[in-house]
Amino acid sequence: MTPKICVVTGATSGIGWALSQALARQGHRLVLVGRSPEKLQHAEKLLRNSTLFANEKQIITFVADLSRLREVEQLARSIQEKCEHVDVLIHNAGVLPIKLIHTEDGLEQSFVVNHLAPLLLNHHLRSLLIASQPARIVQVSAGIYVKGKINLPGDPYGTNFSPFGTYATSKLWNVCSCLWWAEQLAGTGVTINAVHPGVVRTNLGAMSGIKGWLLDIVKRFWLTPEQGIRGPMHLALAPELELRTGAYFHHEKEIPLDPKTADPEMRAKIIETSYQLAKIRV
Ligand SMILES: NC(=O)c1ccc[n+]([C@@H]2O[C@H](COP(=O)([O-])OP(=O)(O)OC[C@H]3O[C@@H](n4cnc5c(N)ncnc54)[C@H](OP(=O)(O)O)[C@@H]3O)[C@@H](O)[C@H]2O)c1
Repeated sequence: MTPKICVVTGATSGIGWALSQALARQGHRLVLVGRSPEKLQHAEKLLRNSTLFANEKQIITFVADLSRLREVEQLARSIQEKCEHVDVLIHNAGVLPIKLIHTEDGLEQSFVVNHLAPLLLNHHLRSLLIASQPARIVQVSAGIYVKGKINLPGDPYGTNFSPFGTYATSKLWNVCSCLWWAEQLAGTGVTINAVHPGVVRTNLGAMSGIKGWLLDIVKRFWLTPEQGIRGPMHLALAPELELRTGAYFHHEKEIPLDPKTADPEMRAKIIETSYQLAKIRV
């Protein structure tokens, strides 16, 4: 397979880190995005030391806190400046919020990281992706999106916050956004699909105290990150998915979308609301 340039967000932990290693092993060029400079440097060093990379050009890293809109925009600018093209953009960074946290933009944290940040990156990188065609956008989603609420104008400030409810809604809005993008990008050679990776033993939803201790015990029975990347890797690279777009996968199997996502007018309203919150004119 011709080496591809793959952007991976949330590359420093869990599924993103396992994805980065697997892509490197197959000889692809990596653009790793992480919020912690230290963790990102460590990841880069491990990859380089593992002799997976033959030369400097094969790995680039960008620090960006995807809960901050200005850093998302800066990340898009940096990718445009440093990458001649992007073959695969993997939106993997995500947060299961165990408490209500407001970002510097006044929005609920998981709403921004899970939904607004991928939307804004698609918006700003649209031309680069089209110029790179065939290109793929892979959205690491979560099966719990079916429990989310549309309830326009939504709850971007976390007024009715609950950890799993807020997480599910952010993922539902994100799936609707993927479908909207699939329509916008139809015929451009850029595809976008979403995938539930399974229930995977990562840092997602990590907490301290007795609850954290119990969660760590339960996690022993979950998939390893290496098992959890099967679906995202399939969406990123499988030749048979070259033209598939606007679909939802459970691991490597395409499954029907929840009827909540079916109304195109509602999806357009979600995008309109999201663009307003991000202060972007459509
Ligand atoms: N684990 C599961 O069972 C499961 C199930 C369904 C879906 N998912 C989805 O899988 C994706 C990966 O999660 P994971 O399970 O691998 O969890 P994880 O180990 O917690 O990894 C999440 C990644 O996202 C990054 N991240 C979080 N907030 C960020 C921010 N504000 N800015 C930039 N990066 C940020 C984290 O950075 P740090 O390394 O700095 O923490 C980390 O690299 C998520 O989208 C999640 O919703 C996971």
